[in-house]
Amino acid sequence: MRVIRSIHSLRQVINKAKRQNKKIGFVPTMGALHDGHRSLLKKCRRENNLVVLSIFVNPQQFAPHEDYAQYPRDKKKDELLAKKENVDIIFYPSEEIMYPKGYLSYVTVESISDLLCGKSRPGHFKGVATIVAKLLNCVSPDILYLGQKDAQQAYILKKMIADLNFPVKVKICPIIRENDGLAMSSRNRYLTQQERKEAPILFQSLQEAKRKILAGERNLITISRLMESNIKRYSHGKLDYIECVDPGTLAPLAQIQKKFMIALAVKLGKTRLIDNIIIQIYAMGQRIK
Ligand code: PAJ
Repeated sequence: MRVIRSIHSLRQVINKAKRQNKKIGFVPTMGALHDGHRSLLKKCRRENNLVVLSIFVNPQQFAPHEDYAQYPRDKKKDELLAKKENVDIIFYPSEEIMYPKGYLSYVTVESISDLLCGKSRPGHFKGVATIVAKLLNCVSPDILYLGQKDAQQAYILKKMIADLNFPVKVKICPIIRENDGLAMSSRNRYLTQQERKEAPILFQSLQEAKRKILAGERNLITISRLMESNIKRYSHGKLDYIECVDPGTLAPLAQIQKKFMIALAVKLGKTRLIDNIIIQIYAMGQRIK
């Protein structure tokens, strides 16, 4: 495994791999790696000859009041985990390399960046799209691996890749959860003991919504209200949003359709947690997977 910090050295290694017809898989992260990241790396390893992992806590996707300074950084542990997963290259650029003095260029994926998480995190997805565009230009992978945990991010990046003709295939990997259902996240380590106990409420309320739909409930407002009251009752969490959206467009739904996504964000103490599920109704009558 090689840890590479400069874009020039990275490109040299990538170009050599390309000359050898190696298939290149890429997993971008902000580090503090956990089993969610690991599942992406495992899939990437299975499907490619060269596995590139990037670790970069991207300042452009954090608002000034957000957790950029506190964001967990654990290079040694990350390197050990990457080694275990047989990563070939860790690309570990500095802020100066990614955003040198006088940096001026950004990528905006319009309108869908303002929905869901974009409402309370203006500018966040502009930061995400910009860094991923830059990383794709440095790594030039054949396949990019992203997690369904950040469903809106994955959707926005897919759109950017299609709109700007990046020659890369995108694969979205399922959400990896703790035993109690909490979606794994580098931010979970911010939770106090009490908050950690309450955090599975996001997944529990999604499961409860699914059960109700399975039992025949079709009113999205009733479902959202039920989820909201569960969150209020069983946690100190402050709801940011619960939305039922079309998983193909992220457009908010007024009515249930065959396949849809319920996404939510909850602030638990200082930590903002997100989660989602996709529900598929086989017959609009009753049966749901
Ligand atoms: P980060 O939060 O480190 O996540 C890196 C990748 O891991 C993302 O594609 C994310 O969706 C995926 N991931 C995180 N938790 C997961 C889980 N529990 N199950 C499955 N996949 C999970 O997302 C980012 O970093 C950044 O915004 C980035 C794309 C790297 C741009 O800076």
